[in-house]
Amino acid sequence: MIYQFPKDFIWGTAASALQTEGNNTNSDWWRWENNKAPEDKYPLESSGIACVSYHRYEEDLDLCVKLNSNAYRTSVAWGRIQPTPDTFDVKEIEHYRNFLKAAKLRNLKTFITLHHFSNPIWFADMGGWANPKAPVLFEIYAKKCAQVFGDLVDVYLTINEPQVYMNQCYISGAWPPNRENLFLALRVQQNLIKAHKRAYRAIKSVGPHTVGLVKNIIWFEQQPSTYSPVDWLAAKLLFFSNCDQYLRQIGKDLDLIGVNYYFTTRLRGLMLHNLDDVQSDLGWWVYPKGLEHILLHLRKYNLPIYITENGVADCTDRIRKDFIRDMLISCNKAMEQGADVRGYFYWSLIDNYEWHRGYDPKFGLVYVDRKNELARIPRESFYYYAGICKSGRIEK
Ligand code: FCB
Repeated sequence: MIYQFPKDFIWGTAASALQTEGNNTNSDWWRWENNKAPEDKYPLESSGIACVSYHRYEEDLDLCVKLNSNAYRTSVAWGRIQPTPDTFDVKEIEHYRNFLKAAKLRNLKTFITLHHFSNPIWFADMGGWANPKAPVLFEIYAKKCAQVFGDLVDVYLTINEPQVYMNQCYISGAWPPNRENLFLALRVQQNLIKAHKRAYRAIKSVGPHTVGLVKNIIWFEQQPSTYSPVDWLAAKLLFFSNCDQYLRQIGKDLDLIGVNYYFTTRLRGLMLHNLDDVQSDLGWWVYPKGLEHILLHLRKYNLPIYITENGVADCTDRIRKDFIRDMLISCNKAMEQGADVRGYFYWSLIDNYEWHRGYDPKFGLVYVDRKNELARIPRESFYYYAGICKSGRIEK
């Protein structure tokens, strides 16, 4: 069977600033990573020099070209661009402009996230996302980005996975500021939504830019063979709170939906009942059908959809090729049924800093040898995905 994608389909890979650049010292993450108390389990290690992509970005972009991809998604670091509430750093802005120009020179479309989990230290010290002023502060930064980067950015993505951020930082307390407070979490959720809306309007006021949000979406379903109305209802409610409840509040302030898909949660007797047929190194169940369900569900929003992240931790590269193939087939099937999917970004181009888990999880199409000057060595799956990016088709 052959699955064909449209000629203008966006084929990309994704990354983020703190996970790849190195030395993101003006960030709440850096402060947390470097002040670990002996009793703390996480973070397993500090991001440190990461992949030195701050200096080696041309090498990374060359890999995108070798991959036959036509787009790259990464983020800019707020703490670099705005080191204090009242200043913007001209040199750092120039650095990112150079990076964007280098991408353009290589005919890569640039999808740039403005907030990918980390905050400037001054922002964190003002109360971070729980501060009622947070949406306005973010708006100022977003507007500046649109002014200085302009058309060098093809798609502005305001915030990455706001719900994951809220959960990890204010419910489970795993990430800085390590709070476990539902009241604060709800406030943070509202502030992130307000911040997106303000940033959306601010970027639009600068020019006719395309602006989206990146939402992690989990597919929830009941165990199919044991029908239970309780599981059915629980799955519906969980999916609603993860997806529609959020997107509805964003309303019209959205030009596209960015979907990050990693999981499905299957319920039986209100307990997690995922299969273990194919699992990533992190124990995440690989279930491509979940992506198809999500994409079909999103049709009702009548917005272009980009899969802004989808990937697998697989250090031996044993399941990555099949993972990419089957996820893309699900995507293609959803497109056949009317889902307006415009692009796919594999997470990630190179192995990088996976937040509190450090460098252990290997999501990259490219292995980064941390014992040998961070040499970038493409895995087999890199060449497999390169074939798809070139031909725009999959055979199975
Ligand atoms: C997502 C994050 C991304 C990466 C992947 C594995 O939640 O957006 O930075 O860590 O998970």
